[in-house]
Amino acid sequence: MLKARAAVQNLPTYDPPLAGRDGLRLDFNENTVGCSARVIARLQSMTAEEVARYPEREAVEVLVAEHLCICRDELLLTNGVDEGIHLLCETFLEPGDEALIVVPTFSMYEISAAATGARTIRVLADDDFRFPLDKVLLSITQRTRLIAIANPNNPTGAVVEGRAIESICAAAPHAAVLVDEAYYHFYGQTVLGAWRERPNLFVARTFSKAYGLAGLRIGVLTGACPAMAMVRKVSSPYNLNSVALACLPTALADDEHVSNYVAEVRIGRERLQEELRAWAIEYWPSQGNFVLFRGGELNQPFIRAMRQRGILVRDRSADPGCAGCVRITIGVAEQTERLFAALHESFDEIGLKQPEAV
Ligand SMILES: Cc1ncc(COP(=O)(O)O)c(C=O)c1O
Repeated sequence: MLKARAAVQNLPTYDPPLAGRDGLRLDFNENTVGCSARVIARLQSMTAEEVARYPEREAVEVLVAEHLCICRDELLLTNGVDEGIHLLCETFLEPGDEALIVVPTFSMYEISAAATGARTIRVLADDDFRFPLDKVLLSITQRTRLIAIANPNNPTGAVVEGRAIESICAAAPHAAVLVDEAYYHFYGQTVLGAWRERPNLFVARTFSKAYGLAGLRIGVLTGACPAMAMVRKVSSPYNLNSVALACLPTALADDEHVSNYVAEVRIGRERLQEELRAWAIEYWPSQGNFVLFRGGELNQPFIRAMRQRGILVRDRSADPGCAGCVRITIGVAEQTERLFAALHESFDEIGLKQPEAV
């Protein structure tokens, strides 16, 4: 009988609720207005010849390297950050090795690590989801071969300082340290390039969020040249499709589209946090394009009430430390207005009262 490897048989599954996502999608931290119109024009101009050829990554990698002010050998374009995570696990993890993550966090670290037969060591975030630096340092062993940190973190929006990342890299020179900066644009701080001092550091970025290209699947993994050479050996030369490669230069050229979007999201994020404060709802200050808050027992009725009003939000109550929590993606101003209207109606329907109004 056909049997998957033991590691695969025991794999946790990641089944994001993808079906029936009609409405305002504030559930997956996607861009809520879409990519630059110039990207769509480029996509529509694709020729049969372009589609017939195997995709060529190199020229676009040169452009991305220029955009990030790094050398081409310091990066690899990947099929989303998801593939970057997968490649790091395939490159560095053997069965029985340890992959260290701080939970709650993005699910794919654990799934890709576990598929190799490595053990996942989960370190619980400190109070208020603060980064547990001391606990992470204490959890590093000779078997630690991967440490994955989302910065800002999903689903909490919490961040970790560059100094803490440096001390982790220094304490685990035998481990690949991945700093996943998928939400970089909404935060603005980076450790890109710090691998020149810390050669075990990798930094990942995505074009799925601020750039609005989640459907094209484009990410970039960066690191020191010798480390990236190891990872590149594992990658297919055709990991990115031609449509993605054709569109990426156009997306990079339309900086304004990204900066306008990010500016609106940052304002919306402050407004939502203010609103949650006004309702005395527990939330965690976020540096991503989303906010996590605790609805407690009202969580499920709240999510249902929002869905009835055409707004999708994401239940995170199954994440460690997140009982009764929901995460809401932030969109542009007009969408924040819609969000607030639905929020107020839903609070009313589930019987939540604003403190002043009690
Ligand atoms: C922290 C983090 N990393 C990576 C990803 C996935 O990125 P990509 O679409 O580039 O695979 C997500 C998506 O939600 C995320 O939250």
